[in-house]
Amino acid sequence: MTAVRQLGVLTGGGDCPGLNPVIRAVTRRAIQADIKVVGIRNGWKGLILGDTVLLDLQSVSGILPKGGTILGTSRTNPYKRPEDLAKLKDTLKRLALDALIPIGGEDTLGVATRLSKEGVKVVGVPKTIDNDLSATDYTFGFDTAVNIAMEAIDRLHTTAESHHRIMVAEVMGRHAGWIATCAGIAGGADVILIPEQPIDINEVCSLIKRRHARGKDFSIIVVAEGAQFKQDAHVTREEKLDEFGHVRLGGIGDSLGKLIEERTGYETRVTVLGHIQRGGSPTAFDRILGTRFGIKAVELVLEGQFGQMVSLQGNKIVAVPIEQGTGTLKTVDMGLYNLAKIFFG
Ligand code: F6P
Repeated sequence: MTAVRQLGVLTGGGDCPGLNPVIRAVTRRAIQADIKVVGIRNGWKGLILGDTVLLDLQSVSGILPKGGTILGTSRTNPYKRPEDLAKLKDTLKRLALDALIPIGGEDTLGVATRLSKEGVKVVGVPKTIDNDLSATDYTFGFDTAVNIAMEAIDRLHTTAESHHRIMVAEVMGRHAGWIATCAGIAGGADVILIPEQPIDINEVCSLIKRRHARGKDFSIIVVAEGAQFKQDAHVTREEKLDEFGHVRLGGIGDSLGKLIEERTGYETRVTVLGHIQRGGSPTAFDRILGTRFGIKAVELVLEGQFGQMVSLQGNKIVAVPIEQGTGTLKTVDMGLYNLAKIFFG
């Protein structure tokens, strides 16, 4: 095993609370092992452009409670243009990086998997507020997002009750409705709509009407941004795709709110939580998980265990082959969703 003298760390894709605790833990543990840490700015873009910064004890001081990422991020896909991939490989060589720790979701770790197959020494760290990566029980950022969404639902509850309104809260969740399900359970939502289950608008409206019939003249509907209608309904979506082919979501809450108001006659208001769920300080859970992931990632580098991703299984941090994290998405556990359904209506 060749000794690792320098390692690179980058954050790619959407930011999320907990990235800075990972960067701090990676840097602290690596410096302890006499490894120099090179921070790569703005995800894969920084490796293409050679945009880097040396991370030392001073640069990671005080970042534990900070949201976002001190390294910046981007959705740049180096496999999109062959010339970018060539530049990325040149940078790796020029900087003499012995190992790379990419912190990211399905897209960033998908690139890491491909690079690993081409011989680059990587150890992945999974992140997403959506909690939809396989092979890990949780990703950091999710707990913070759920707590923010829960607090918003609590707030919507009191105003909904005073005004006898229907409140639709649109939360994040592109492919999986983990945030909607967990925040909905924690906040006592009356209906939770997720991408895994097509929305039956007739069912939603009759549920709301049944609540009214039993004297509950307000309702809280939580909908994940990636949820879709079973029946045809107009949802405005931007057609612009990012470099990984994803459309910009948002708009399902408005469509849903209009349909509910039209069909029930009850005043319906819509709140889109959007990036509020992604910004700001991480919860204790996410700080601890990020810290444990960062430490484990460096330990895997020290052991020469490349092509792996750190993962939370039960209460243990373990290593799994990186492609296991991105191969299939982890959708909502239907047992949990069915539990939430007991409280619908
Ligand atoms: O993947 C995480 C996520 O928060 C999704 O829920 C959402 O669709 C996406 O990122 C939005 O990201 P952005 O607005 O940065 O493009």
